[in-house]
Amino acid sequence: MSAVTDAVPFSTLIRDASHEQHTEAENSTFMGDMLGGRLGVDAYTRYTEQLWFVYESLERHTERLATDPVAGPFIRPELSRREALGRDLDHLHGGSQWRDGLRPLPATEAYAARIDEVARQWPGGYVAHHYTRYLGDLSGGQIIRGTAEKTWGFARKGDGVRFYVFEGIGNPAAFKREYRASLDAVAVDDAEKLRIVEECKRAFALNTAVFRELGTAFAR
Ligand code: HEM
Repeated sequence: MSAVTDAVPFSTLIRDASHEQHTEAENSTFMGDMLGGRLGVDAYTRYTEQLWFVYESLERHTERLATDPVAGPFIRPELSRREALGRDLDHLHGGSQWRDGLRPLPATEAYAARIDEVARQWPGGYVAHHYTRYLGDLSGGQIIRGTAEKTWGFARKGDGVRFYVFEGIGNPAAFKREYRASLDAVAVDDAEKLRIVEECKRAFALNTAVFRELGTAFAR
């Protein structure tokens, strides 16, 4: 039996450990300005571009990781965001020309590189990044979608906000419950659980760094 798992389910441990950083990310200047309607659609576009690089890295490795005993249970095709992001960016740019030569911000490059690294070498670390993005998108992502639709006039759940619409997930609350059950059952020992929690904090810090750079680029 294991001390960490007996005391607190892993899904609770990882959520509580990143709670403070979640608040920080939520309250970042860039997020606050963007969701407060104080920034133009160019800021939203630049933000969506950064997500493109993050999800490219997250989803580049899914085929191989699907059979991994640790990361495999989290890999679900209905989570995949790349196609939706591509459609949103086509809409935001009025065509597909962005696909040639789009460059990430330095913080985004570092974030995507870290995802690549753990995806290749450390399935537990990949789970930390997977959790940080996808469970967030299924939660607060829905608030961002509503605000983006209102602020910049996108069609409800349409082009521009498809990233936030999980067509293949009919009941997000039930999906999140199952996802948390998978976290609780993750096939690693306690020491590894603690390392995953640390990587989750790093994932949040990498997100916050992207917001910081976006905040500088779009300072009001
Ligand atoms: C303005 C921005 C954000 C808002 C309004 C927001 C809001 C929320 C809300 C309301 C929940 C709780 C949902 C629930 O209990 O089912 C949540 C959960 C979550 N958010 Fe955010 N969030 C934001 C930004 C972020 C960012 C930047 C990240 C990380 C990249 C993130 C990652 C998460 C994660 C991982 C969860 C799941 C926590 C858990 O239950 O284990 N969020 N968010």
